[in-house]
Amino acid sequence: MQFFNHFLREQGVSNELRSLLYHIARAVKYINFSLRAGNTAKLTSQNVFGEEQLKLDVLADKIISQELEKSELAAIIASEEQQEPKKFPAPRGKFGISFDPLDGSSLVDANLAIGSIFGIWEGDKFLGTTGRKTMVASCYAVYGPRITLTIAVKGKGVHEFELTDVGEFVLTRDNIKINPDSKYFAPGNLRATCGNEKYLQLIQGWIKECRTLRYSGGMVPDLHHILSKGEGIFSYPRDEKHANGKLRLLFECAPFSLLFEEAEGASLNQDGQAVLDTEITDIHQCTTIFIGSKNEVKKAVDALK
Ligand code: AHG
Ligand code: MN
Ligand code: MN
Repeated sequence: MQFFNHFLREQGVSNELRSLLYHIARAVKYINFSLRAGNTAKLTSQNVFGEEQLKLDVLADKIISQELEKSELAAIIASEEQQEPKKFPAPRGKFGISFDPLDGSSLVDANLAIGSIFGIWEGDKFLGTTGRKTMVASCYAVYGPRITLTIAVKGKGVHEFELTDVGEFVLTRDNIKINPDSKYFAPGNLRATCGNEKYLQLIQGWIKECRTLRYSGGMVPDLHHILSKGEGIFSYPRDEKHANGKLRLLFECAPFSLLFEEAEGASLNQDGQAVLDTEITDIHQCTTIFIGSKNEVKKAVDALK
């Protein structure tokens, strides 16, 4: 059995980064406890015991923010649930952490798999840079029948850990890689087909080729499926109302792009630019995304030109 911290040390991950990842893993465990404890109110409300309950994504945001502050390794944090990033006063850590505390929050009541996404950046700013220049690691947790944490440290591959009943994450898969071609497709934002004939044709083409649909409506499980099977494509194009789609660059797309590029997959926006090369000009900016098996991603973006 390979424990999380021990494995990362063997991979040559720095003490500081390992310690930060340890705090992220702790936050993931607390969020999982909250989910299992039934704190799943969709809105701020009272539970059956008359206690105030927080909306789950707000609770997850609190848990992660507090844990990162405690770590003393964060210089700045930015959350999908917060309007502005929070800077910690000097002397503080050397990392910026961007996160989506709960991805797939609309799936909570349906009891589908959900997740948390984290991007780890060097320094104390997110604006005016790109994922390629400044991100050093990223990871995501899946809260499903099993709890997994998948981590990419730049240059050190992608590895999956699972939470065991003794409360420790242990290695379940190392050096995850994605094949260039695939039979799986996960077509997001199908509403875009109403105004975009090419997107409709792309999807019809996948159907005619007898490919296999795997789509849950949650970015985390949908992308985890691709990494688990080692192949697939997830698409989220623009539509008439959303020129850059709806998925967020800093909290969702940049962290996943680092994971997928580390696994030899690709992540492009609808204009064919690598998502990791997109400059961050606004904390809450959105980006279109085509992510997964390299050849499939390239072919899909070309087909929409
Ligand atoms: P969040 O719950 O953090 O707001 O994100 C939900 C996202 C993502 O998980 C998923 O891929 C996408 O929303 C699906 O969006 P639509 O079905 O609304 O197009
Ligand atoms: Mn999300
Ligand atoms: Mn969210």
